Amino acid sequence: MDKGIVKLAPSILSANFAQLGRQVAEAEQAGADRVHIDVMDGHFVPNISMGAPIIRSLRQVTLLPLETHLMISDPDFFLDEFTEAGSSSFLVHWEGNNNLHRTVQRIKAPGKRVGVVINPATPAAVLEEILQDLDQVLVMTVDPGFGHQRFIDTTLPKIRRVREMIDDIKPDCDLEVDGGIDATTAPLVVDAGANVLVAGSAIFGEREGVTAAMNRLRAAVDK
Ligand code: DX5
Ligand code: ZN
Repeated sequence: MDKGIVKLAPSILSANFAQLGRQVAEAEQAGADRVHIDVMDGHFVPNISMGAPIIRSLRQVTLLPLETHLMISDPDFFLDEFTEAGSSSFLVHWEGNNNLHRTVQRIKAPGKRVGVVINPATPAAVLEEILQDLDQVLVMTVDPGFGHQRFIDTTLPKIRRVREMIDDIKPDCDLEVDGGIDATTAPLVVDAGANVLVAGSAIFGEREGVTAAMNRLRAAVDK
């Protein structure tokens, strides 16, 4: 299957957890490029979601990379556990991390991919000194913590700025976006320079099912 240039990363936060293996397998068959797993601790963000056991279980049922978005207060404390469970890559927030360079190096040491995440109110400029060490940048297009929120369109100029920085400093770095991505907003973020789209409710929350939802999102960006 031709997956196109834009990659899709279904976020299982919106999946039916009683059907998780089946839903992820369906997303894989429909051309997902990676699985996005949102880890929340009820402290860094006002919500609790899932931990390493989910990664361990999914590692048994899919060949896709398991991308782990850590929305937790002390990411360093949990890196070994998630690495052992089977995470392929880690996304860590710039916000609240006083030792981001150290965290990034710790993720890379065992050969994992690493990305830094910036929230909607955080300027692109904070990425400048760390960008050369990264495989991915994730621009949050909602405030983190919940699925099915409305896309914040003031993030679009920032996505363009991050694209310019990546092209200048680290051209093979992915530019990923997360939050409120659907068939309407996906073309806007792709036009601004994003090449990886995280989508939760637009993939797992649709009555039409995972395959049809994936096809709709793919068609919206391939136009
Ligand atoms: C929000 C999470 C997202 C979430 C996106 O904090 O980081 O990955 O699952 O959900 P949608 O696509 O429904 O906005
Ligand atoms: Zn996420």
